[in-house]
Amino acid sequence: MSVRSYVEWLYRTARPLGEQSRYVNLGYWRGRPATLDEASEALAVLAGEAAGLRPGDAVLDAGCGFGDQDVLWARRFGPRRIVGINISAAQVAQARRQVDALGLACRVEIRIASATEMPFPAASFDKVVALESALHFDPRTAFFAAAWRVLRGGGRLVTTDILPLPGRRGLGKLSEALAALSWGIPWANLYPRQVYAHLLRAAGFEDVVVTSIREHVFAPFNRHLARRLRRDPGLLSRLDPLFAMYWRASVATGGMGFHGWDYVLATARKPAAERKGRRGTARARFL
Ligand SMILES: C[S@@+](CC[C@H](N)C(=O)[O-])C[C@H]1O[C@@H](n2cnc3c(N)ncnc32)[C@H](O)[C@@H]1O
Repeated sequence: MSVRSYVEWLYRTARPLGEQSRYVNLGYWRGRPATLDEASEALAVLAGEAAGLRPGDAVLDAGCGFGDQDVLWARRFGPRRIVGINISAAQVAQARRQVDALGLACRVEIRIASATEMPFPAASFDKVVALESALHFDPRTAFFAAAWRVLRGGGRLVTTDILPLPGRRGLGKLSEALAALSWGIPWANLYPRQVYAHLLRAAGFEDVVVTSIREHVFAPFNRHLARRLRRDPGLLSRLDPLFAMYWRASVATGGMGFHGWDYVLATARKPAAERKGRRGTARARFL
C-alpha cells in the first residue's frame, strides 16, 4: 500500500476529535484554550498570521482536511480567494458542503488534488499554507518545489508540521520509524528542523524560519484528551477504531508517543525577483 492510499484510508473517518469543529489537528494551546476546537482555531490563526493573510490574497491551503481553517481564514483575514486541496474525496465532499452552507463558495473552492502535484499555473498564489498536513506529503520536498512554483515572487509559504526531534539514534530511531508507519509519514520526511530549513532554502526559498512550538502542542493536547476522557469515557468509542486506539494509548502512557517528535511553525518567502517574470500573465489567467 502506498503512503497516499494509507493516508486516504487513515483519514476516511467523518468524525474528528474536536468538540464541534472538524479540524484534524492537535491544536495550539498557548494561552490555555478550554477546548480542542479553540486550540485548533488558534493553530489556524497562528499560521494565518504567520502567512500575513490579508484582503486581496489568493491562498492555497494544502491538505485542507474538512476545510474549517478555510472558513476561519475567509472570515477573519478576508482574502480574495482560497483554494483548499486534499487527496481525501470524503473530506473534500464534506468541506464543500460546509463552504456552500455558509455561503462562502464564491471565495472558497475545495478540490481533490495532491500537494505534491498541484494542478495550478505558476505564480498563481500569494500564500501557500499547510496546516499539520505536510508530514504526509510524499515526499515533503516535492511539496516545497510545487509550492515554490505556484507562489508569485514575494509570496509566502507557511507550515505547521510534525518531524523528528534533532539527535535521535538507536531505539529512538526505531520508535520513530514505527510511529511514522502508523501515522502515514513517509520515511523520506523523517529529518529534524535544521534539515527542514535547509531543504526549504534548497527549494529556492529565503527568509526561512523553522521554530519549534512543541511545548504548546503535544503535552497540552495530551492533558486535554485525558481530561475529556475522564469526563466522557465513551468519547473514543465514537471515533474511528484506529484513531481510538492511538489516542487511548497516548493517554495511558502520558503522551509517550510524542516523545521523539518535534512540532514546528515554518515560514519562508519566494524571492521577490520572481515577480518581474511571471506574475502578471499566469495570475491573470488562473484567477
Ligand atoms: C492532520 S490532517 C490536517 C487537516 C487540516 N489541515 C486541519 O488542520 O484540520 C492532514 C490532511 O492532509 C491531507 N493530505 C495528506 N496527504 C495529502 C496530499 N498529498 N495532498 C493533499 N492533501 C493531503 C489528509 O487527507 C488530511 O486532510
